[in-house]
Amino acid sequence: MQWWKETSIYQIYPRSFYDANGDGIGDLPGIIEKLDYIKDLGFETIWLSPHYASPQRDFGYDISDYFSVAPEYGDTEDALQLIDEIHSRDMKILFDMILNHTSDQHPWFQESRSSKDNPKRDWYIWRKGNGPGKPPNNWACLPGGSGWKYDNTTDEWFFHNFLDFQPDLNFRNPEVKKAMFDTMRYWLDRGVDGFRLDIFHSIYKDDQFRDNPFSWKYVPTSDFDEGYFQKLEYNINRPESFALAKEVRQVIDEYSPDRFVIGEVFGKDVVKKYLGENQDGLNLILQFDLIELQGADGNKAQEIRNILQRYESEYSPPFLPTYSVGNHDRRRYISRIENNQGLARLLALLQYTARGVPITYYGDEIGIPDGDLPHIGAKDATAHKYWWLPPALARSLHLYVNRDGCRTPMQWDSSPNAGFSKTSSARPWLPVHPDFEICNVEKANKDPYSLLNIHRNLLHLRKAHDSLRSENLQILEGLPESVVGYSRKSESEDTNIYMNLGPEPVKFHHASGKILFRTDPACTADGAIELPAWSGIVLQ
Ligand code: GLC
Repeated sequence: MQWWKETSIYQIYPRSFYDANGDGIGDLPGIIEKLDYIKDLGFETIWLSPHYASPQRDFGYDISDYFSVAPEYGDTEDALQLIDEIHSRDMKILFDMILNHTSDQHPWFQESRSSKDNPKRDWYIWRKGNGPGKPPNNWACLPGGSGWKYDNTTDEWFFHNFLDFQPDLNFRNPEVKKAMFDTMRYWLDRGVDGFRLDIFHSIYKDDQFRDNPFSWKYVPTSDFDEGYFQKLEYNINRPESFALAKEVRQVIDEYSPDRFVIGEVFGKDVVKKYLGENQDGLNLILQFDLIELQGADGNKAQEIRNILQRYESEYSPPFLPTYSVGNHDRRRYISRIENNQGLARLLALLQYTARGVPITYYGDEIGIPDGDLPHIGAKDATAHKYWWLPPALARSLHLYVNRDGCRTPMQWDSSPNAGFSKTSSARPWLPVHPDFEICNVEKANKDPYSLLNIHRNLLHLRKAHDSLRSENLQILEGLPESVVGYSRKSESEDTNIYMNLGPEPVKFHHASGKILFRTDPACTADGAIELPAWSGIVLQ
């Protein structure tokens, strides 16, 4: 099997992982120092959120030079050393790649905006307004508000699907496409094993610039394809973007051993198209169902069963789903599930034993809660748009507009600032979560059933048992209502997983077998299977 189909991914937000030089900002040397932690947990691939030169208005998702490293994170030597150090541990590294847009400080954009006849003019999307002060059409950008920004240098508007300092590149210009493919090749040539592709579904826009149709929805749907009183029909998920997925795959496939790309794409009933009918598109796409999971009520079994069933039918082999509970854009999952530690363990059990590629966001393995940080004065630029929105109201609408909360520093130990900076007097760029004295790596290491050890043991179990990495998953029937079960088979073994996703203990008869793993020491399988509330077991 190709290695990327069996891998497990750990996502690092470089600014927040470990600060080796004491400036309060995480850095590449800091990541290198902590690689053994990730290796020992059992992760095989690291996805690094952007570390390129950037004005950091969107913390690296606004790139001003794709070929250099942000000075606060280190330099090119550090990036090359990071790649080497990861490979020497027999691990792989994915960089984040932002094809859709650059920073408005990128020299390409500076040139493009300077005059209508600049050779780079057509590298971005420029249009005349629809009358004084009126944008060219009604397209909303993904964070809300018009996607057009007026520029008085040339009396035209440029388009941005994200924030207004992130102008979208014009992929209809072959020079742009070539420049961006060369950017990918530059890092592939230097050994990276692939990319996570940022808002890939946004790259092409309708070439006739038709207005989006009206919708009654203002608050965006979870698929982000409707909201702000429109259906985002013409500025995302265009057929040309599905075709681009195949071209990107061809670039990746120029390399051996295998490299892979994983796309961030949103949209109802269309995202599978990015994988290509013949698996000739993006290798994987990010799935957001567990990232959307809220609460810890009695319906969790049905919700999880639905997700599993959908993935098994829509992404049946040779396709492969991805399982992830959090990322750098969403409220920390432990807070979303109301700090239900049992459910947190079960989500880890699901992630690492279901058929798919598990992706874990730094800190989720110890259950760092979401930082309760105000919108006013936020570091995150999306919060600046919504400074007037009270955080509690935002939460009740399931809107997460201040992403600072999920980006607080990694909690290593109980020393000042959770040991995030090597120099204890350093002031971290975001406040450490106040719970750090009870929730940190050092402490979690000591408890055999801590969330951290659950992650570690499951990752090692997954490595040792080929059934857990096989292409086979059968959902088990005839189980109590609160129990989700599935079997995983390989040529050599047969494994059953049972999860009690409810607040009451259960006892039932099903398969018998050796206990390979349990999330709670009180789980037993002696004739009958007995699972305390919110607990699960793996039987061989
Ligand atoms: C993606 C990233 C997010 C970023 C945005 C614009 O959604 O995950 O962090 O702000 O794209 O690049």
